[in-house]
Amino acid sequence: MSKKLKVGVIGVGGIAKTHFPGWLQSPHVELAALSDIREDVLNKVADELKVPKRYTKTEDLIADKDLDIVDVCTPNMYHAPLSIAALEAGKHVICEKPLAPTPGEIRKMIAARDKAKKLLMTAQHFRFDGRSQALKAELDRGVLGEVYHARSWMLRRAGAPTTPGFVLKKHAGGGPCIDIGVHILDLTLWMMGNPKPVAVSGITQDRLRKRKGAFSNWGGPIGPEWDVEEFASAFVRLANGATLVLEVSWLLNHDTQGEDMQMWLYGDEGGSHWPSNTLYKTCNESQQHMNISLKRNPHNTEPHALECVKFAEAVATGAPSPVPAEHSLDVIAILDGLYRSSAENREVKLEY
Ligand SMILES: NC(=O)c1ccc[n+]([C@@H]2O[C@H](COP(=O)([O-])OP(=O)(O)OC[C@H]3O[C@@H](n4cnc5c(N)ncnc54)[C@H](O)[C@@H]3O)[C@@H](O)[C@H]2O)c1
Repeated sequence: MSKKLKVGVIGVGGIAKTHFPGWLQSPHVELAALSDIREDVLNKVADELKVPKRYTKTEDLIADKDLDIVDVCTPNMYHAPLSIAALEAGKHVICEKPLAPTPGEIRKMIAARDKAKKLLMTAQHFRFDGRSQALKAELDRGVLGEVYHARSWMLRRAGAPTTPGFVLKKHAGGGPCIDIGVHILDLTLWMMGNPKPVAVSGITQDRLRKRKGAFSNWGGPIGPEWDVEEFASAFVRLANGATLVLEVSWLLNHDTQGEDMQMWLYGDEGGSHWPSNTLYKTCNESQQHMNISLKRNPHNTEPHALECVKFAEAVATGAPSPVPAEHSLDVIAILDGLYRSSAENREVKLEY
C-alpha cells in the first residue's frame, strides 16, 4: 500500500470522539494532528490518543503541509470557514453535520471544493448504519416501485442540548431543524434517490421552553438565552411529484423516553419503515397484504467510525465523496425554506 494519508481533526472535545475509532481502524490513514481552542481538552485527548501534533490555533493545523485530510468537528457556524480554508490549503475535508447552516455557505464550500479538486463529505452517519444500508439496497432494487410520499420525524420529549453551541443562533444557525432535522431529512432524501426539493410550507414553534420550570433531560433547566426554535413541521414538494412530511423537535409532549426517529416511505409497489426495516407489500391477485422483515444488515461497525473509514477509502482510491455536498445543499435549502415559510406564513419556492 502507498504512504498513509495524514488526518488532522479540529474540535476534539465532543463528537470527534466517535470519529477517532474510524481514523484509527482505517488502513489508509494515520491520525496525525489535533486542534481545539481549549488547550486542556486538546492535551487530554491528544495524550489519550498519543497524537504528537497539537494546535490551539486552527489556522496552524490547516497550514500543516503534512496533512492530507481535515476533519471539522466544531460547532456549526465554524464549519464553512474552516472547511473552505482547509480546501484552499489543499486538504480533503470531512465535516460534521450540518455541512453549514445556510445554502449560501454550502455553495461557497462546493465552489472551494471544485477549485481545489479535493473531496468534501458531510458526516451523515445514519447512512452508514447497518439498517440504513440494508434498506437502501432493497430500495435501489426498486422494491417499492415509484416512491410518492414520505413521512419522517425525529422527536425528543425533553431532549434539548443546553450548550451555547446548539441553542444560540450565532453558533448553531438554528435549533432542532439544523441539529437533528438534517439527519432524518438527509436519510429520507437519500432513500428516495435524492429528488430535488422544489417548495416548502413549514412552521416553527416555541412553546414548552417558555413555560415556568422548563427543563431538558440533557442538562437541567432551560435558560432564557435560547434564540432557536424548539419544534418544526413541514410539507415538502419534490421535483418528481413526490411529497415529504417532516416533524422535528427537542421538546414535545410525545411518548418517547429518548428519541423517536422514524421514516415511512410509500410507493406504488410497496411501503417501508425504518428503523424496523419492514417492507409492506400487497398482492391484488390473492388479495393479501405481506409484511416482510429485512433480517440481514451488511455490517455492525459503529456508523460514525464507518463514515470516516469510507471517506479515507474514497480519498485513497480516488472514488467520489460518500456523501456529496450537493445532497447537503438540498437538505439545508429545505430547512432554510421552512424558516422562511414560517416567517412569511406561506409556501415558498426553492430556487438555490
Ligand atoms: N453526527 C452526530 O451524531 C453528531 C452528534 C453531536 C454533534 N454533532 C455535530 O458536531 C459538531 C460539534 O458538536 P459537539 O457536540 O461535538 O460540540 P462540543 O461543544 O461538545 O465540542 C466541540 C469542540 O470544538 C471545540 N471548538 C469550538 N469552537 C472551535 C473552533 N473555532 N476551533 C477549534 N475548536 C473549537 C470545543 O472546544 C469543543 O471541544 C456540531 O456541528 C454538531 O452538529 C454531530
